Amino acid sequence: MSDPILSVENLHTYYGKSHILHGVTMDVQRGEVVSLLGRNGSGRSTTLKSIMGLAPPSSGHVRLDGEDLAGQRSYTICRRGLAYVPEEREIFLNLTVDENLEMGQQKGPEGATKWTVDQMFTYFPRLKERRNTRAGSISGGEQQMLTMCRSLLGNPLVILIDEPTEGLAPKIVTVVGEVIKDINKQGVSVVLVEQKLTIAMKVSHRVCVMGHGQIVFSGTPQALNDAPEITEEWLAV
Ligand SMILES: Nc1ncnc2c1ncn2[C@@H]1O[C@H](COP(=O)(O)OP(=O)(O)O)[C@@H](O)[C@H]1O
Ligand SMILES: [Mg+2]
Repeated sequence: MSDPILSVENLHTYYGKSHILHGVTMDVQRGEVVSLLGRNGSGRSTTLKSIMGLAPPSSGHVRLDGEDLAGQRSYTICRRGLAYVPEEREIFLNLTVDENLEMGQQKGPEGATKWTVDQMFTYFPRLKERRNTRAGSISGGEQQMLTMCRSLLGNPLVILIDEPTEGLAPKIVTVVGEVIKDINKQGVSVVLVEQKLTIAMKVSHRVCVMGHGQIVFSGTPQALNDAPEITEEWLAV
């Protein structure tokens, strides 16, 4: 196998005195979609935030294309080619949809897939209809799509997406799943935190299960299917 595009090694992260990540280790190969699964509170969001430098790890490595970014500022990490779509929508409510998309545009690192606003509108025609509307006035689902599009317009090598389908109508959930598959097909590697197991299994090449702040299973969706004891211990509610 060639060198992974993203390599996370032995991350330890604290919130104050609470030790949340206990040595998270995972790799993402070029062209892969990897889902992070686990129960609520298992540390999936903290893992994404630690990779992005938003919850800086106290120790460990985050290598993007071989370069160690652990401990760097999020701004730098972003510029190197990692994009992050937070669970909480992060858009400028007083700017229009178009203006929000404009804010997201970055040259991106060498070798990254280049995206256009028109491509975003092809994925989500609804955003095109709303392009001159204040982002604060569009629906929650549309705001979620806008957040994803804005991050993608930074032309990342790897995009980290935290629960993109939460609270969306079933029809839109399917669309978001298809879009994630397509951006991956266009060359972007993806780390996805997804509560809906059916979506995660459909779009992922590999799934990692988290428990107690560590990765407790890593394998293909098929391998997870074949290991009901893992589901029972770490995923069943
Ligand atoms: N900002 C924070 N301050 C203190 N504790 C936090 C904070 N964010 C998350 N936690 C705690 O860290 C643990 C992991 O949370 P999180 O990474 O959000 O889990 P997940 O995304 O898998 O639901 C939980 O016990 C949660 O309560
Ligand atoms: Mg979370």
